[in-house]
Amino acid sequence: MIIIYTLTFFIIFLTYFLLIRKQQKLKLDSNKTVLITGGCMGIGKQMCKLLAMKKCKIIVLDIRKDLAADLKNTIEQYGSTLQFYECDLSNQEQIIETINQINEPIHILINNAGVAKLKLFTEQSFQDLQLTHAVNYLAPVLLSKLLIPKMEAQKFGHIVNVGSVLSIITGLKVTAYCASKHALLGFHNSLRVELKLKKSPIKCTFIAPWAINTGMFKGVKSKIDFLLPELKEERVAIEIIDAIENQKDVHSIPSFYWLLSNLIRFLPHPVADYIVVKAQGPYISEMVGRNQ
Ligand SMILES: NC(=O)c1ccc[n+]([C@@H]2O[C@H](COP(=O)([O-])OP(=O)(O)OC[C@H]3O[C@@H](n4cnc5c(N)ncnc54)[C@H](O)[C@@H]3O)[C@@H](O)[C@H]2O)c1
Repeated sequence: MIIIYTLTFFIIFLTYFLLIRKQQKLKLDSNKTVLITGGCMGIGKQMCKLLAMKKCKIIVLDIRKDLAADLKNTIEQYGSTLQFYECDLSNQEQIIETINQINEPIHILINNAGVAKLKLFTEQSFQDLQLTHAVNYLAPVLLSKLLIPKMEAQKFGHIVNVGSVLSIITGLKVTAYCASKHALLGFHNSLRVELKLKKSPIKCTFIAPWAINTGMFKGVKSKIDFLLPELKEERVAIEIIDAIENQKDVHSIPSFYWLLSNLIRFLPHPVADYIVVKAQGPYISEMVGRNQ
């Protein structure tokens, strides 16, 4: 009898938390200032467009100053404003200097910029590894460190970390990228519970997309592509903005991939490794990405 009661209570509790309990919706409008890294290209630029349509004020930190004028035009077409800061996110001093120049309150931080050096580990230089970790992991950590006290003082804040399904599973030619995205997820999860512990007003959202058609993973191919085709950058941007508005803790794209990747993680290593090597192995020479 006790087991039945416990089970019933557990099912009701789970249903409440997973299905019924709705987070209050976050309103993205002209009262919100969003700082987004890597806004000049790819999904960052798509998110800037969507945020501009909602009339949010946009601050972009990006290394590609040459693309800033075009981004500004796009944002202004939708009736919003852009403050652009040229900033190399692999340089911690530049990040600190840039944040010190911004006077207005930042409500939402989207850590989106990323790099991927698609090479086998033995072909990567130590500089490749350092750059990947600095941009994909240390920059989001430093920006969070700098902005959390300001967000707590203004009693509002939302931090979004754009990870990847490679925050959970693995693949070929992605040792540095995968390690940096795993680290980002570990940081994000630990930060979230600490914020909850102290009842902080800051919310966090982790985004884990599958491969996107931006060029970062140009040439990525496997024998199981028919199951999961490359995502379009417009769709990914729409889903990220929706996840922020709904204040989701985590959102993978496609959404079932969170569960699937976590299940793949539990496969015995020989099975998981066999699948990766057989499916992706024959095509790795075509996987070149941007290899900046
Ligand atoms: N493309 C994919 O298949 C894919 C899949 C899953 C997750 N992601 C993640 O999504 C995010 C965006 O990816 P994307 O495909 O739009 O990438 P992208 O290469 O199209 O754009 C990346 C942006 O980051 C900027 N950037 C790169 N290095 C920088 C630096 N040192 N300092 C400042 N800015 C810098 C670039 O200038 C660019 O604007 C990344 O975090 C990436 O890891 C991408």
